Amino acid sequence: MITLSIIKADTGGYVGHSSVHPDMLAAAQDALATAVSDRLLVDAQVASCGDDISLIMTHEHGADAEPIHSFAWDTFQRTTEIAKRLGLYGAGQDLLSDAFSGNLRGMGPGYAELEFTERPSEPVICFLADKTEPGAWNLPLYKMFADPFNTAGLVIDANMHAGFRFEVYDLHEEKKIWFDCPADLYEMLMYIGAPARYVIHSVRSKTLDEQAAATSTQRLSLIAGKYVGKDDPVMIVRAQSGLPAVGEVLEPFAFPHSVAGCMRGSHHAPIMPVAIGQAHPARFDGPPRVTALGFQVRDGKLIGPRDMFDDPSFDRARSTANEVMDYMRRHGPFEPHRLPLEDLEYTTMRLLEERLAARWEPMAPAPLPVPAQ
Ligand code: 13P
Ligand code: 13P
Ligand code: MG
Ligand code: MG
Ligand code: MG
Ligand code: MG
Repeated sequence: MITLSIIKADTGGYVGHSSVHPDMLAAAQDALATAVSDRLLVDAQVASCGDDISLIMTHEHGADAEPIHSFAWDTFQRTTEIAKRLGLYGAGQDLLSDAFSGNLRGMGPGYAELEFTERPSEPVICFLADKTEPGAWNLPLYKMFADPFNTAGLVIDANMHAGFRFEVYDLHEEKKIWFDCPADLYEMLMYIGAPARYVIHSVRSKTLDEQAAATSTQRLSLIAGKYVGKDDPVMIVRAQSGLPAVGEVLEPFAFPHSVAGCMRGSHHAPIMPVAIGQAHPARFDGPPRVTALGFQVRDGKLIGPRDMFDDPSFDRARSTANEVMDYMRRHGPFEPHRLPLEDLEYTTMRLLEERLAARWEPMAPAPLPVPAQ
């Protein structure tokens, strides 16, 4: 068994929240190279999307493993030091705790981990996003693994006819449920259509009895109790041979769906699929970006990445995203561009309600109805 882990954190932005400084990426790459030569990791690469650093690692320690998580934590401490020295924006932004204890759960960094027995050919896509949250993966995962109009394999490949099981987390109440699709499709959509609260954490093939996808699923604001930026998410999807083909895994992103995030993590905006070199959200700290790094995993080695959205066939998605961005921006501070109040509760509303409490007056009571004669 091999485990593919992506562990990510925003440890400082260059400039503002738009990108990661090259010195930070170099330090992270150094740390990864040392961990590979020390045999903690089988293979590893650093990547970034916007202001978030992703450590893409293969190893034999399984998910939630102490040595892997503590290595990532230490690496993010090092990149934070550089960010502090250069005065970068929000140095150590996603490191919410002072000390590491066991694993990264509830500590700020996000992680998606997928344990599997390597097939003779193992194509894997690592998706990295910035300026949005884990619920942004709900719609594309639904399309990849449950929608035959996206995934021809659901119709054509007999190994996919039994369908897929989706593990969904309730981020507000810390509970989870498995939906068995296609039987539970409609019930599942009722939940995952509310991606601020219900988030797909993993997907399994029923025929292969194998995990096919994993997402980073946590909410920083619910950990910190205040606004600390968005939990810009990552996702791992395995492809082909009884799973969606690579092109079926990428196809949902031809529709730049609206996600929560963008400026101050407080706006709906379209998610734009981009080449790695274009993943530096600048306009209104957006629009939110997603990149797709394709790998063939061989003996645990990461053969790649191929920059999958560096493809003119996604030009129209990018141009639609720009059009939608113009349209949404014209709403300024009005919904539905601005997030609904319940999703802003950790930012401004609590403070504002305290400040204005004394100024709210009750309405004059309605006149009593005149009794019938
Ligand atoms: P090839 O015949 O090019 O390998 O394509 C097969 C396939 O699975 C395409 O999705
Ligand atoms: P990040 O979560 O990417 O740091 O974004 C925070 C923000 O407020 C952007 O405007
Ligand atoms: Mg940031
Ligand atoms: Mg970010
Ligand atoms: Mg963030
Ligand atoms: Mg072929």
